[in-house]
Amino acid sequence: MPASRNPTAATSRRVLVVGGGGREHAIAWKLARDGAEVLVAPGNAGTAAVAENVPIAAADIPSLVKLAQSRQVDLTVVGPEAPLVAGIVDAFDTAGLRIFGPTAKAAQLEGSKLFCKQIMHRGDVPTAMFREFRGVARARDYLQAREDMPVVVKADGLAAGKGVFVCNDRAEALAALDSLGNDEQFAAATKGILIEERLDGIEVSVMAITDGRTIVTLPPLQDHKAAHDGDSGPNTGGMGAYCPAPFVDAAMLADIEARILVPTAHAMRRAKVPFHGVLYAGLMLTAQGPKVLEFNARFGDPECEALMVRLESSLLELLDAAVDRRLESVEPPRWRDGASVTVVMASEGYPESVQKGRAIRGLDAAAKVPDVEVFHAATRTVDGGVQSDGGRVLAVTAVAPSLARAKLQAYSAVKEIRWLGAWCRKDISDKGLARERELLLADEASAAGAAGEPAEPVAEESA
Ligand code: AMP
Ligand code: GLY
Repeated sequence: MPASRNPTAATSRRVLVVGGGGREHAIAWKLARDGAEVLVAPGNAGTAAVAENVPIAAADIPSLVKLAQSRQVDLTVVGPEAPLVAGIVDAFDTAGLRIFGPTAKAAQLEGSKLFCKQIMHRGDVPTAMFREFRGVARARDYLQAREDMPVVVKADGLAAGKGVFVCNDRAEALAALDSLGNDEQFAAATKGILIEERLDGIEVSVMAITDGRTIVTLPPLQDHKAAHDGDSGPNTGGMGAYCPAPFVDAAMLADIEARILVPTAHAMRRAKVPFHGVLYAGLMLTAQGPKVLEFNARFGDPECEALMVRLESSLLELLDAAVDRRLESVEPPRWRDGASVTVVMASEGYPESVQKGRAIRGLDAAAKVPDVEVFHAATRTVDGGVQSDGGRVLAVTAVAPSLARAKLQAYSAVKEIRWLGAWCRKDISDKGLARERELLLADEASAAGAAGEPAEPVAEESA
């Protein structure tokens, strides 16, 4: 093959993935399949099987720059939001290193809920109505003065998932303000407070890769944020995901792209903070259509795991094109038919106090279950064995011709894995399966109608 200047054509590319969770394992796994030589910093016991782990924390930006220079890394991919908000992309840009992700300013789309609302306002992007307050006391006065209704109380800044309270009434909202006001750990995040209208509907995640101009929208997913079955219990980082989410059909996805993703990217450009990287829209499908709950500036976790196993074409090529601002020239990504399911296995005590350091057994047996990839979210190798090392420990992922089959395979693998106190939700993808049944019944009914059976008269929907 003739030598080429195009870095994507080279046989071995050295790529650095920053982070150490299930999302980063899935990204490293996919990039390795795409032919890259992958470094992960800091990685975990699972990433060590597909990449070289380098013991540098995701927060240690100067050391990551040095690593990329000394190891001649030609593309860096950032998993978590904290280094993005802290300016890792700016530092790499300054050093002349290629990196995929938004600058610190652009990452404010995730880092500041108020900034995010301002951008959505500029782009006329549908979202919940809100009011902003400087400090807890003013927010309290407002709640006391207005009628009692469901609201969502949010800290402006990053608060590790602990800054959002979905409240049924005024009393709950006041209690949420108390806990924000008393939380010294997140004092900076709670300087600004938002009180939002509570939206009702089904939640989905839609992500896109963008170079600031062109948007490549990825298949829709559904996360499971609550700790326990039936969406009960405390909020978590996400207990499982599946792809595609059948609530979003092709027409709705096109609508989300046109009315949410594209106007947001445009508004960012007009605000002189062009967004490069993964634009992640957390959406509520309301009776008035999809509305944005939040934007994230990176791949979702565990959404990324469920996405990567379905991506047939090259992730490396896509990320390269985004970094080089030539996304418009790449073929759209190809996805495996069927569906994927990711089940998160968590530690005893998660999401509150977490028990770490427990020996994990059964990983080899789980890996032998057909169609399954066991991504590690928080593990480390100790004396040749694998131990739990955080709250969300494994992201057991299956890809199969149907959602039902993917669920079955994922849980078959889960059954093989044991450690003291391990638990998971048992109902990951159930809402999707129920929706599929509904769609099937509707199809059958309309086929029966077309076959000449008398159909129920249907009222025309008003526009
Ligand atoms: P956020 O970090 O803003 O996405 O909020 C975390 C979770 O809180 C979301 O995934 C939703 O489940 C819920 N949430 C946030 N905003 C609203 C809202 N306006 N209405 C209803 N639920 C919300
Ligand atoms: N799974 C939700 C998130 O990554 O923010």
